[in-house]
Amino acid sequence: MVKDAKDRDYQSHQERELPIYVPEVLIFETPDEVDAYAASRVIRQITTHPASSLTVPTGNTPTGMYERLVAANSNGEVDFSQATFINLDEYYPISPDHPSSYTEYMKRNFTGRVKVGEWHIPNGAAPDPESEARRYADLLAQRQPIDLAVIGIGPGTTCHIGFNEKGSSIDSGVRYAPLASETQAVNAQLFDDPAEIPAGTLTQGIADILGARQILLLAKGPSKAWGINRTLKGLISSDAPASFLRHHPRVTFALDKESARYIR
Ligand code: F6R
Repeated sequence: MVKDAKDRDYQSHQERELPIYVPEVLIFETPDEVDAYAASRVIRQITTHPASSLTVPTGNTPTGMYERLVAANSNGEVDFSQATFINLDEYYPISPDHPSSYTEYMKRNFTGRVKVGEWHIPNGAAPDPESEARRYADLLAQRQPIDLAVIGIGPGTTCHIGFNEKGSSIDSGVRYAPLASETQAVNAQLFDDPAEIPAGTLTQGIADILGARQILLLAKGPSKAWGINRTLKGLISSDAPASFLRHHPRVTFALDKESARYIR
């Protein structure tokens, strides 16, 4: 019998005997409480280690976290001027000044509003995605170790982290990655003309995310409920890339109760 990709994956991880950990799962009553917790983790990291390096996400989920970080900076609670922020991903191809690019998102929500030490994001307009991926991988390598990776999770059944869609390997690094059609359908709503959504992204790989000392995954709302349960309770496999997080010893899932509602 021919084994499907899921079985092969499972076997190869079993053979490598990667340890499996039980992530910390925090379930909050409201999305606001998820934002407050996420901001408090970032603030704690940077106030105790001002020159920290953080991997950071975009999307709907972290906007409340960024809002709180900007407020904390303006009231003097935290200073980001020695910290390094490295984005997970950018659409490809896209002009950095396109209003729906993640570059613009970051400027609007965070880096255009506070003083940061360094900020990096892939160039969605680079002529060659492979050389841009290599440049970003080198940049990431020079800033190791990443102290904290804050990430989201894809909608529906995608279970993507970064834009590592189904089929992504645990060993994957920075690369061009096509968007799954399920992701495309959801994210197209964030474009004035949904047909304008790019076909792919430049994304950190699973190995890059797992390389961080600590990982904080944020999820809110019912569209994440299936994926959260699949990630925490299903088989660890590239069929649900977020499930690879269970091979990392220091992961926190900060969830609102809607996204946690299917956890068995
Ligand atoms: C974005 C990213 C993605 C998103 C995910 C959820 O930088 O890496 O994995 O975190 O698609 O997006 P939202 O938060 O819009 O539901």
